[in-house]
Amino acid sequence: MSKENTVLLAYSGGLDTSCILKWLQEKGYDVVTFTADIGQEEDFDAARVKAEKLGAKQVVIQDLRREFCEEFISVGIQANAIYEDRYLLGTALARPCIARAMVKVAKNEGIRYISHGATGKGNDQIRFELACYALYPEVKIISPWRLPEFYTRFKGRSDLFEYAKENGIPLPITLKAPWSIDANLMHVSYESGILEDPKNKAPDTLYEMTTDPEKAPDKPEKLEIEFRTGIPIRVKNLADGTEKSDALGLYLYLNELGGRHGIGRIDIVENRFLGMKSRGIYETPAGTILREAHLDIENLTMDRELRKIKHQLSVEFSQQVYRGLWYSPECTFIRQCIEKSQEGIDGTVYCKLYKGHVYITGRESPLSLYNQELVSMDVQGEYNPEDAAGFITITALRSKSPSTYLLQERRDNTFPRENGIPTTTKTLQEQGINSNYIKLLSDIYTDNPTTVCLHKDSSIIKIKKAIRQEDTMPPKLSIACTEKIFRTIEWTKKGININ
Ligand code: ARG
Repeated sequence: MSKENTVLLAYSGGLDTSCILKWLQEKGYDVVTFTADIGQEEDFDAARVKAEKLGAKQVVIQDLRREFCEEFISVGIQANAIYEDRYLLGTALARPCIARAMVKVAKNEGIRYISHGATGKGNDQIRFELACYALYPEVKIISPWRLPEFYTRFKGRSDLFEYAKENGIPLPITLKAPWSIDANLMHVSYESGILEDPKNKAPDTLYEMTTDPEKAPDKPEKLEIEFRTGIPIRVKNLADGTEKSDALGLYLYLNELGGRHGIGRIDIVENRFLGMKSRGIYETPAGTILREAHLDIENLTMDRELRKIKHQLSVEFSQQVYRGLWYSPECTFIRQCIEKSQEGIDGTVYCKLYKGHVYITGRESPLSLYNQELVSMDVQGEYNPEDAAGFITITALRSKSPSTYLLQERRDNTFPRENGIPTTTKTLQEQGINSNYIKLLSDIYTDNPTTVCLHKDSSIIKIKKAIRQEDTMPPKLSIACTEKIFRTIEWTKKGININ
């Protein structure tokens, strides 16, 4: 058959992608479905039968669990990847893996079109498509949820149901959860639907991977986790001696143990790449355990200055992964740096899992940089305490410089605090500030532009000086407001009309 009009569709077997399958056919395309086993609980045989029944020209189902674990999750662990300090990137890491596998099939089969069911508001469309374009520049993407023709026709779930009935698409037997789920080996993520109001607590029944920490076993689980080049290569359960040493088996085992002990749940608001904030709930049991253990072995074995640079790269890497830039020059470069940084990260971490937490209890390494003699309170070792005095004196040179000292003291006096919140104790009048200035300041503060514009350059410079000299702010103005005043002054000076 000619492949001119063939589309490779990322197919989950659910209602959305089944409707997309039919709709693509309606538009004149032949459809080949691609279903990835990336560790989600799913009936792949049923998905195959369904796709065939709906007229797919070919059904491809691939087990990507091992490559996901070995080539994507592992890098995340080595990097200590974390987005906005909390999200371990389970969905974001899976997308380039799935896209890569689809591109391989598309290229082998000579298929030019790739389609997916990601929504038009999310990160996944970006991740998926950026990966496809990077690996297959000529590819043509069909993203129905971004096509007016599609989204105006299918406004809600009931439209999809209607279409499914008309087109012989089997309706889901189980009631759809009132939120969207994305599940894989690394995590289950929940968002949208009733979770959209960030104030509302998620129902206890939502969680699929982990036990509620309050209901977790009273007895901790003690483990030994061994790393080589920053990659976990062996896990041993110290209670029953169970050992796992292949990447996937080890990860699955930690998911099971972590899940039982309620580890790796978070409920957060995050910043999507497209600009909106969204509320998400995640369960990442093994990822959380391995992150804690890896951070620990890294601190034992990695040089302090290298660690600092690597940490900065990790922040950058996490954002690149979140933003779908896995296959970009900058991300490829950082991955190489991260891999290089892991050369000496060998050793074993001892920990226990208990009521939602991972407690690190010890560590050892043949490449440890820890020098017990050097740090000990009891041994002098190769260290002369008198040298510390010189070290401190020289380090303090900067702080002792008169202007640094004065500025520091001034800052402390300028921002006295009440209950930790900066406040001024004296009013501006009490501090002898010219009433014209006070008026101007309060106009700036209350966003009354008239006076500011009238006063223009010279008076504003005077005000700036006055504020500097008097070291004060209008009463009850916060630091943020003072900053705003300075900003306004700067703008006016530059001739920018603050209207
Ligand atoms: N917000 C997460 C991310 O962008 C998860 C997105 C998919 N999750 C979902 N439940 N649909 O990586």
